[in-house]
Amino acid sequence: MIDGYKRRIDYLRISVTDRCNLRCVYCMPPEGVKQTPHREILTLEEFGRVVDAASDLGINKVRITGGEPLVRKNILKLFQHIAKNPGIDDISITTNGVLFLQMAEDLKKSGLNRVNFSLDSLDPDKFKEITRLGKFNEVWRGIEKAIALNLHPVKLNVVAVRGVNDREFGDFARLSREMPLHIRFIELMPIGECNPWAVDNFISAEEIVRKLQQEFGPLQAETKVTGNGPAKYFRLPGAKGTLGFITAISEHFCSTCNRLRLTANGQLRPCLYGNQEFDLKKALRRGAGRQELAELIAKGIRQKPGQHHMEEGWSDLRVMSQIGG
Ligand code: GTP
Ligand code: 5AD
Ligand code: SF4
Repeated sequence: MIDGYKRRIDYLRISVTDRCNLRCVYCMPPEGVKQTPHREILTLEEFGRVVDAASDLGINKVRITGGEPLVRKNILKLFQHIAKNPGIDDISITTNGVLFLQMAEDLKKSGLNRVNFSLDSLDPDKFKEITRLGKFNEVWRGIEKAIALNLHPVKLNVVAVRGVNDREFGDFARLSREMPLHIRFIELMPIGECNPWAVDNFISAEEIVRKLQQEFGPLQAETKVTGNGPAKYFRLPGAKGTLGFITAISEHFCSTCNRLRLTANGQLRPCLYGNQEFDLKKALRRGAGRQELAELIAKGIRQKPGQHHMEEGWSDLRVMSQIGG
């Protein structure tokens, strides 16, 4: 479906849980965030109904996110349901990778096409410091497994934080030469727990590019990486993988935004930053059929704002793990 700003909306990101088995410093305090009560979270069957209705409006790509989506019990069932919908031709996941290795083969059999891992450091001690609870080697083995299973393109999300991982950009670039990994540097957003720390420790994509070019020379633009998101990609000469940049702050990509979000508690969010939500849970629980749900989703698409105004402040109390990155 085309929205009020002539954008084709064909990508749905679903946060299947607000729970997480890590506590990344920019996302959550050590004790975690207040969890939404179980009853408030949509069942897998309800998520499936939303996907089916959305596919009637031209949504053909779905990403499963969280929180950490793999901590959701029986999550394979949702993949299996989505895979049966002939309208959906790309099913992806964004995961911290902690549980990925043990679930990888089942995920693939259940219809997963490709995976993005959050990995902010290649140094096991630093990784532990950032995630508070994570073990680097566990995640790394999951990444290797994703490559072995051909879940291509395999992407790594690296949130750039000054004083935390800013000495590692070169290491990530070298990794992209050696392995078929698409490494995306993400600008730190002042969302949730990390504001105003995020403002003080922000590094722009431009600064990262400058540092990389000093070390590796000019970066060649690359247009062939499959993806539905806003990343812009480059390749080092002869590299197996690429380097991407997600300029969430320095250059927003609202004019080409193609997505809707569904929060774990069943709210359709046309914009990551806007606080406007459409209550699909209420409709689902009073028994709304596929067409009625599609009409509600269409209403959300029609009211999707033209651009966000994050520079005016993050007006919402939700954190990233609730909205689904
Ligand atoms: P593909 O390009 O399809 O691989 O996925 P993606 O980049 O959309 O998915 P992923 O979940 O890996 O997103 C990476 C990060 O990009 C998110 O965690 C956010 O930090 C950022 N991002 C994704 N969508 C948006 C958006 O609509 N607005 C902003 N500002 N940032 C976004
Ligand atoms: N700024 C930028 N990226 C963030 N993520 C979580 N919180 C933030 C933030 N404040 C990223 C994670 C993950 C993705 C789902 O969202 O690192 O890669
Ligand atoms: Fe969990 Fe992702 Fe938040 Fe880290 S950034 S605590 S992995 S939801």
